Amino acid sequence: MALPSLRVRAYGAVEIMDSPHCDPARLTRTYQDFRVVNALVSGWWGIYRRSIRPELSTTTETTLLDVGSGGGDVSRALARWAVRDGLRLTVTGIDPDARAHVFATSQPKIAGLSFRRALSSDLVVEGARFDFVVSNHVLHHLSVAELKGLLVDSEHLVRRRVLHADLERSNYAYLGFAAATKPFFRHSYIRPDGLTSIRRSYTATELRAVVPAGWTVSRGLPSRLVLSWAAPDA
Ligand SMILES: C[S@@+](CC[C@H](N)C(=O)[O-])C[C@H]1O[C@@H](n2cnc3c(N)ncnc32)[C@H](O)[C@@H]1O
Repeated sequence: MALPSLRVRAYGAVEIMDSPHCDPARLTRTYQDFRVVNALVSGWWGIYRRSIRPELSTTTETTLLDVGSGGGDVSRALARWAVRDGLRLTVTGIDPDARAHVFATSQPKIAGLSFRRALSSDLVVEGARFDFVVSNHVLHHLSVAELKGLLVDSEHLVRRRVLHADLERSNYAYLGFAAATKPFFRHSYIRPDGLTSIRRSYTATELRAVVPAGWTVSRGLPSRLVLSWAAPDA
């Protein structure tokens, strides 16, 4: 496989699953496969263990918003872990994409978990607030202006802490993902869209350069970024 230049962010590169005309069966397989991919590479178990679980209680409800929840597997994992730990967490996953909403709401119910078709800005207009605002693989989807809009929305929506997790662009990430997924995911868009996502994603240096003061970018493995913000009165 030829390695494309990853020197600059390929913001114009389009993921197949973002097309309204992509194959519905492959799209459903893609949402199903995200559960495997996110469990292997997205690092949410570690984020939950380090940054979310210590703030949860067995008696008081904590609320969490998952922005751009897609097929909903990160929302589901967070809700499931809290139930298993006997902790009270209400998880709301939002995504404007009707196809994602249909898939997410067709999955088995979990206590405390719900999905809505909405943008983060819709919830700001409603005056909604959540203890945590999180996202996974949303930042690379956005233009710089949209990213800044999401961060403003996040600051309005959160009471305690924002955690936006995404890929970090690098030759290592591209070649590693290409090699690891080559024998798998033949019936979904995971491989081509994953490679496009890596081309569209930020490096830590680029992300630090565009986010407002107060936001922190940390790097993790494999090729992960977490953009976080703590509410001043949290
Ligand atoms: C690549 S998907 C990520 C899906 C899911 N989080 C995952 O990790 O599998 C990015 C999603 O973000 C959604 N999105 C983008 N901007 C958003 C916003 N401001 N509010 C809510 N959803 C948004 C898109 O509709 C898209 O489904």
